[in-house]
Amino acid sequence: MADEILVLDQVRKAYNVGTSVETEVLHGIDLVMRRGQFLALMGPSGSGKSTLMNIIGLMDRPTGGRYHLDGIDVGKLGDDELSRLRGRLFGFVFQSYNLVPRLTALEQVELPLVYQGVTNRRKRAIAALRQVGLAERMNHRPTQLSGGQQQRVAIARSLVVSPRVILADEPTGALDTQTSHEVMALFAALVDERDITVIFVTHEFDVAQHARRIVRMSDGRVVEDGVTADVVARRLAAGVPGVMPAPASVTGQAAAG
Ligand SMILES: Nc1ncnc2c1ncn2[C@@H]1O[C@H](COP(=O)(O)OP(=O)(O)OP(=O)(O)O)[C@@H](O)[C@H]1O
Ligand SMILES: [Mg+2]
Repeated sequence: MADEILVLDQVRKAYNVGTSVETEVLHGIDLVMRRGQFLALMGPSGSGKSTLMNIIGLMDRPTGGRYHLDGIDVGKLGDDELSRLRGRLFGFVFQSYNLVPRLTALEQVELPLVYQGVTNRRKRAIAALRQVGLAERMNHRPTQLSGGQQQRVAIARSLVVSPRVILADEPTGALDTQTSHEVMALFAALVDERDITVIFVTHEFDVAQHARRIVRMSDGRVVEDGVTADVVARRLAAGVPGVMPAPASVTGQAAAG
């Protein structure tokens, strides 16, 4: 369907670590995302969230299953085609901002356009910085900005290429609660106003609450899809042990409720 931007069908990922023994870390992921969806990916450390994000963002190839991106079977593409598609469709935001220390905010945001050979870079970079509310800080270097401001520069940098999808792996991991909510509100606005699809990873339920859909992973599998943060919060309040309830019981409860 045209509305479906990402379709993952039984996607697997196995690593060869040193010896001939293969370790599979994604065991058949099914995931469909429509345009303009806003999804939080949750799950314990080591459950495969970053591995999945890397596959979705064409940074890494699956070792099994199929992945259609904007209707294209990416398994059939060569490395050059993959990187062109990556540059055209995705913006990336990282926990550690990944800004270049010596560059100003404006130069950071111009950088992806340099790689794409775009000419009217300055204008587009300023527009992106304005969109994240940082136009008046455009000549500041990272050390002259707060953590939240640095992350907003990083978001402007991801936006400047007009991506269809933003992938953010723990974008609020280094931010305080208040700033985390501001950053999430910014993503929510992008989803609503520009029909961008956003997938972000978080360990915090109150951050996940900004999303319209939550997918929970455990041990390389999707164990729950579509539960909303308030349902999870109610479960926790009802005394379900641990931050991450056991997959089987939760799936059972979701089916019953
Ligand atoms: N390049 C690699 N080679 C071998 N194993 C890897 C590699 N990258 C990740 N893994 C393994 O894959 C599993 C999933 O890792 P991943 O980074 O996706 O987890 P995660 O859910 O993002 O965890 P966290 O919340 O800590 O970031 C882990 O067991 C990890 O050791
Ligand atoms: Mg990770």
